[in-house]
This record gives sequence, C-alpha cells and structure tokens, in this order.
Amino acid sequence: MTDITAPSYESGLEVLTEHIHEAYTDRSPDSAEWHRRASQSLIAGVTGTVRYFAPFPLYFAGGQGSRAVDIDGNDYIDCFLCGATLLLGHRPPDVEEAIRANLETGSLILNPKLATEVAEQLQKMIPAAERVRLVNSGTEAVMTAMRFARAFTGRSKIIKFHGTYHGMSDQVLSGLDRRGHRLGAGIPSETVSQTIGCDFDNLDQVAELLAGGDIAAMLVDPTMHHAGLFVGAKEHYEALRDLAHEAGALLIFDEVISGFRIAAGGAQEYFGVVPDLAVFAKALAVGEKLGAIVGRADIMAVADPSRTTPGPFAFQSGTCSDSTSAQTSALAAMRGYEKLGIDGGYNKIDALAKRLGEGLQQQFTDRGFACQFTQLGPMVRLFLTDGPLSYAHCERLDRRPIDLFHLGLITEGVLTIPGSNDFFLSFAHTVADIDEIVAAAGRVLDSYNFVDVMAPTTTPDGAKT
Ligand SMILES: Cc1ncc(COP(=O)(O)O)c(C=O)c1O
Repeated sequence: MTDITAPSYESGLEVLTEHIHEAYTDRSPDSAEWHRRASQSLIAGVTGTVRYFAPFPLYFAGGQGSRAVDIDGNDYIDCFLCGATLLLGHRPPDVEEAIRANLETGSLILNPKLATEVAEQLQKMIPAAERVRLVNSGTEAVMTAMRFARAFTGRSKIIKFHGTYHGMSDQVLSGLDRRGHRLGAGIPSETVSQTIGCDFDNLDQVAELLAGGDIAAMLVDPTMHHAGLFVGAKEHYEALRDLAHEAGALLIFDEVISGFRIAAGGAQEYFGVVPDLAVFAKALAVGEKLGAIVGRADIMAVADPSRTTPGPFAFQSGTCSDSTSAQTSALAAMRGYEKLGIDGGYNKIDALAKRLGEGLQQQFTDRGFACQFTQLGPMVRLFLTDGPLSYAHCERLDRRPIDLFHLGLITEGVLTIPGSNDFFLSFAHTVADIDEIVAAAGRVLDSYNFVDVMAPTTTPDGAKT
C-alpha cells in the first residue's frame, strides 16, 4: 500500500497538483478571467459551495444531449449533469417543446390545473404516492416530509444514516461522515439534536434506537449516494421498513437521487419496498425547480387545512410552488421516464454505467494501480484502494488523488466535479461517450505522474503486481 504519511507522498501530490492545475489553467483563460470578475459579486464566483473547486471553477455557455460547452469553447462529455439533474441530457426536445407550448400561460398562476396533472402522473408512477404536495427543491421536500412524520407520530427524533446528504437544512447537515460532525459553522447543536446518526448496515443499532419509542421516522437515501453507493439488498430495506413499523415509526425514502434514475418508479420500484413518505426533486423537473413529497393519504392529511376529522395540523406552503414551467417540465419528463421504463431504457443505461465502471477500473489496473468501483443505475463511483469495498473503509481514504484524477479528466474533455467523485450518466449518453471517457481516463493517468500517489494493485494472494 502507498504510505500516505511518507514525505514523498506529500511531495508527489504537490507535483501532481501543479501539473494538472497548469494544464487546466492553460485551456481555460476565459473561465479564469470570468472567475476574477464573478468573485467581486458572487461569493467565490459561484452560486453554491459544491460549484467551486480549485484552482477556479469553469463557466459554461450551454449544452446539448450528453455534451456541455464552456465559455472557452471547450467541449465536454457531461458526467455532472448540473448535480444529477439533467437525467434526460441537456435540452431534451420533448421537455423544451412542452415548455414552449405552455409559455402563454405565464410562469406563475394560482392553482393551475397542471399541478393536478403532475400529482396524477406521480400517483401513476410512484407506488407510495397516494397524495402529493409540490415544493421547490429537494431540501424543502425533505424538511416537509420530516415535519409531516413528526406531526403524524407526535414524536420528534429522526434516524439519519452516516454518510448521507439530505439537503441543506440545519437538522440534516450532520453525520455526513461517520463521526457525526455538523457540516460547517452556523448550525447550532440544538437544531441537530433530534437527528440521530446510525450505521446503515447495522440493523441491531437501528432496532436499539427504535426501541426508545421516540423516533418519528427513519430517513433513508436508498442509493446511499453521498456515502459511496454502498446500497443494501431488497431484504435490507424490507428489514428497515419492518423495524420502523414495529416501533410505530415511519419510513421516509429520500428519492432526490434515486427518483426516476434507478427505475421509472424510483427506489421503491427498484427494491420493491414502499415507504410511508417519499421525496423527489432534481430529475423530477430536469432543470426547472420542483420538489415533491408523496405518501400515504392518512399521513399527508396532516397538511390538509380543510380536514374536519380531529388530528394534528402541519403547516406547509411555498410562494413559487405553482411554477407552470416547472410543472410543465416535470410532466413531460415523467412521461419520458415512463416510456423509457417500458422500452428498456433503464436496462440500457445500467449497462452503460457498468461499462464505464469496468472501463475506468481497467485503466487503473492496467497501469498497476488499485481501483474498484460501485455502481447503481446510471451512477458510478471510483475508490482507489484494494481494501474492502465498504463505507467504513472507503470513507477513510485520502480523497486528494481521486479529486486530482477528476480534475485531470476535465483537461481531457470529461466534466465531473472534483470533490464529489461522481460519474452521472443521462439517457442521452451513448456507448461512444463511455468509450471516450474511458480513453480520456487512460490519457490522464499517462500524462500526469499519478504513480507517486497511487496504491499499487495487489493480486488475490497479496503479491504486488
Ligand atoms: C439525497 C438528496 N436529498 C436532498 C437533496 C437536496 O436537494 P436540493 O439541492 O434540490 O435542495 C440532495 C441534493 O443533492 C440529495 O442528494
């Protein structure tokens, strides 16, 4: 194994960083210049933390299908997809046509019929969707689902699994690692005190926490995306659901990542486990701003101001939740996913992602470097290790080499975001795109001196290759 405490490791990283930054800067003079201007108004020149990465972020002019073009005119195969949102690729024709046809409606009207049509389409596709409430983002949807669960059960605590991200509300910005730390300053300990961290694969720990009788809900990203796509089998999700129900708690699926991505009916269709509540955003409206909370009618009734039966009432409202462009976009996108589900599109995209994972791994191992990958639907993550492929092990890896690899990919025309270690594919990606990404990875490993910072591959009997 590479000794990451050796001085040669740090100096190797320094040299590698310098080389990649130089190549990156050389091909992006207009982005560098724009970043200087943007930083005078926008914090760090960007509109959100993850959109910044060193030495400076790139600025984009547009995109089409699987491709995006930056303001320097560099062309990329886009594997970031604006944070996994553009699941149908850039500018999907059916969605654009629907938005154009609907322009005369105005962007915001009171109680548009469209909202009902979006809700009906969700009911058709998503098993848990007996009732629907629309919001603007994944963060809002998660906050709302937790409030509904708390109102319905009369309890306040939420179980959240280590390593997962559920949006930027204070109460879930803890435990993005295994130590349960809050993510950054400005989050009072009181606001995360009702969020209880737990290991995803430890059902005994889950049962123990539930035994306290004060858990309102278990919040699960069924893809365990932020933790590294270390998912469970169907039986694991069944066990989580059963444990929650036996303790009088609810199961919430955060389908902001899994929704429409791993199956047209989301993780609940993929794993065959129907949660009590589920939330959607990102690919729901493919770039327009829409989130949804769906769930059992008796639970969703907590937000019903017209209810005459006794029961708790939970407030929920959002000024822009009736955006007609967002609802139009969502309706067209969901109809697209439905058709892809029938036509075998999900099998195709799954095969593309496997090809990508295997191809990337091969580029590393061909050069004697350790590399493994996780994959679920159109998502792939790489881990530069020959140790156990688990969250517990991979969370402790030094991320700097993989971040530099992603930055290197940018210099070779593949857009991923250093720091997130994600490859997201869309339904617009092709086999040719995948083979081009794999070839680019080979060029990255050959052009820069990764040899100084990579663990060598070991054969099954432990011998170094
Ligand atoms: C699993 C999950 N939940 C919630 C969110 C928050 O969604 P948004 O960024 O739309 O607020 C995200 C965003 O990345 C996510 O990945």
